[in-house]
Amino acid sequence: MHILVLGGGGREHALAWKLAQSPSCDTLFVAPGNAGCPNSTHLDPMDFPSIASFVREKQIGLLVIGPELPLVEGIVDYFKEQEDLSFCKLIGPNQTAAQLEGSKVFAKEFMARHHIPTAPFQAFQRDTLYLGFKAIDAGNPPYVLKADGLAAGKGVLILQNPDDAKRELAIMTNPEKYGAAGKTVLLESFLTGIECSVFALCDGENYVLLPTAKDYKRIGEGDKGPNTGGMGAISPWPHENPDFMHRVTKDILEPLLQGMKAEGNPYTGFLYIGLMVDEEGTPRVIEFNARMGDPETQAIMLRIDSDLVPFLEASTRPGGLKDMHLNISSSASAAIILAAPGYPGHYPKDLVIHLSKGAEEREAVLFHAGTKHQQQRLLSSGGRVFAAAAKGVNRQEALDKAYSLAKTVAFEGMQYRSDIGYEWQD
Ligand code: AMP
Ligand code: GLY
Repeated sequence: MHILVLGGGGREHALAWKLAQSPSCDTLFVAPGNAGCPNSTHLDPMDFPSIASFVREKQIGLLVIGPELPLVEGIVDYFKEQEDLSFCKLIGPNQTAAQLEGSKVFAKEFMARHHIPTAPFQAFQRDTLYLGFKAIDAGNPPYVLKADGLAAGKGVLILQNPDDAKRELAIMTNPEKYGAAGKTVLLESFLTGIECSVFALCDGENYVLLPTAKDYKRIGEGDKGPNTGGMGAISPWPHENPDFMHRVTKDILEPLLQGMKAEGNPYTGFLYIGLMVDEEGTPRVIEFNARMGDPETQAIMLRIDSDLVPFLEASTRPGGLKDMHLNISSSASAAIILAAPGYPGHYPKDLVIHLSKGAEEREAVLFHAGTKHQQQRLLSSGGRVFAAAAKGVNRQEALDKAYSLAKTVAFEGMQYRSDIGYEWQD
């Protein structure tokens, strides 16, 4: 079977790395990919007609959609409308189901209907701004403001001061500032605890759990400074235990799948559940994503022992995942993002990259993210340039190997957090 992975970041390189190992994979393409991906193909993931032509021409049997934007814009619906593309199995939810990520109001109202634990919220628009101000006056800091739509990680503000919260609410509800993403803004209660990322592959009715992870979103060590797409990840989430996973599946994942099916929107594909877990171990949903996480995927793929392709194929049939069991290694893994100087603010591109050989071994993989080849040279092309990922018998060994691998990469101004996993480092 020929497989196409859409997207061009570290997540897609990690998915491609895993899928290419499958005995059922003949050729694996990544579009647009990067300098590390096999068969990077110049296709825009938002150009659905060109992707469809490529799928026809290459007889792609499995299309894995990495990023959220094509899903939220309806790539799955677009493909399903064309009968001659029925040979291609699609991994990802349709446009309505992808609203779990595409609209925070949709996700929150859905959770309220199905009693899925999450932070209480209220939604405001430009014409109800005064109600928002009243709610801020009546509430307590910190104030959490969220743009309704996709905002590429820039849609959440956490503010201590009520006046700042009011000012930002006014700005965010102004379509000129946030565009369509900010028309409706959520004011949400602040949740305390430890964040945890849970991942599942779903077939509309059943699911298999993938490894859990902890993501490090801030640029600075000790979780300081602005939010980024993610600066590193460890897997498993260090507090994972069977009781906790039971709560996540019984209180969140199963009600989600049942609720989406009952409402006529069965959820298929990867589901990312971003959780805040309080001191009693109670998980509450911060967000859903209709895709895998980046950089969690770079850590997670190293811990999946099963061939993923049969699971992906099964996820495209309602009930297909019933009785299937994914083998997850008892080892630990880590991924360290190597970023361009200035990221997540303004950063230079076309930095010349030097890779010294030797550190890559079977259990350590340098996943490319923002890289490209130009005239025989390897250059940076994005803010997050690589993820140095490794597996070890325990978390410390995985981190040591990932950091050793990171040290084999050099480009001007390269920055990375040297404290990934710091809460649990021995
Ligand atoms: P999101 O884009 O929804 O993932 O939010 C980005 C980050 O903001 C999360 O990873 C959390 O660290 C933080 N966050 C979002 N919502 C809340 C909340 N209700 N309480 C506390 N922190 C939050
Ligand atoms: N690592 C966070 C995300 O993928 O959204």
